[in-house]
Amino acid sequence: MDILKSKAIQSFIKIADMGWQMGWHEINGGNMSYRMTSDEADEVKENFRSDGEWKEIGKDVAVPDFAGQYFVVTGSGKYFQNVKDNPEDSFCIITVNNSGDKYKIVWGLSNGGRPTSEISAHLLTHSIKAKATGGKYRVVYHSHPKYTNILTYILPLKSEVFTRELWEMMTECSIVFPNGVGVMDWKVPCCAEIGIATGRLMEKYDAVIWPHHGLVCSGEKLDMAFGIMHTIEKAAEMLVNVMQITGGKKAQTITPDNFRAIEKDFNLNFSEEFLYEK
Ligand code: 13P
Ligand code: ZN
Repeated sequence: MDILKSKAIQSFIKIADMGWQMGWHEINGGNMSYRMTSDEADEVKENFRSDGEWKEIGKDVAVPDFAGQYFVVTGSGKYFQNVKDNPEDSFCIITVNNSGDKYKIVWGLSNGGRPTSEISAHLLTHSIKAKATGGKYRVVYHSHPKYTNILTYILPLKSEVFTRELWEMMTECSIVFPNGVGVMDWKVPCCAEIGIATGRLMEKYDAVIWPHHGLVCSGEKLDMAFGIMHTIEKAAEMLVNVMQITGGKKAQTITPDNFRAIEKDFNLNFSEEFLYEK
């Protein structure tokens, strides 16, 4: 099958373009990866090349569970803006070696290049999430959304504070990301170190904020990861608006007991650390 006719590839292109339309991907900002099912990979394998070179994923990074699996990944320095019109130049499909410390490009990046510089964060998050969900989670998506970023200059960089403030902005937030949002220390982009720190937070959260940089979301499907990102960014925009209008004072809000009621009726299990008294 022609790779571009594959449903998996078509949704990768669609979501990348939607992210671009949202304004989350200035220049080469952001990156995205999708772990293909074996059926999806088999369908398009006839297009794969075998002459790719094995390259190290990152220092101290290994994902042996993914030996022989295939990932669709945006290219480093490539623009989300171009994914739709020039997919072959904008992203690639990679596979992982037996020891899990190297990858090889089997399709795409037709004008050369390498997968995203955040490949360590992507593959480590995939590994943690696949283990935690019995293989259900297949997507890692990183973008540079404006309002989430603004909040990292205003709120203390604490997971419980970001979670609670975002949850309070829309009743459905606590249902969309019931495990909250993790917030990391500032780190240099593009190295194994940011990847390892992100992976650690992904043990607990589906969304991790990189202060003064962006957001990483993980989910079962591309639309779900996009949807979590969208919800967080919309809540962040609302919070920035409230702060602009009232300096952050709220006449009323969703209370800890309201969250406990949601928890009960939706059969969720919120961590008490998010329901602190203010
Ligand atoms: P890449 O172009 O290497 O994917 O980097 C973009 C980015 O957002 C880094 O955090
Ligand atoms: Zn980034």
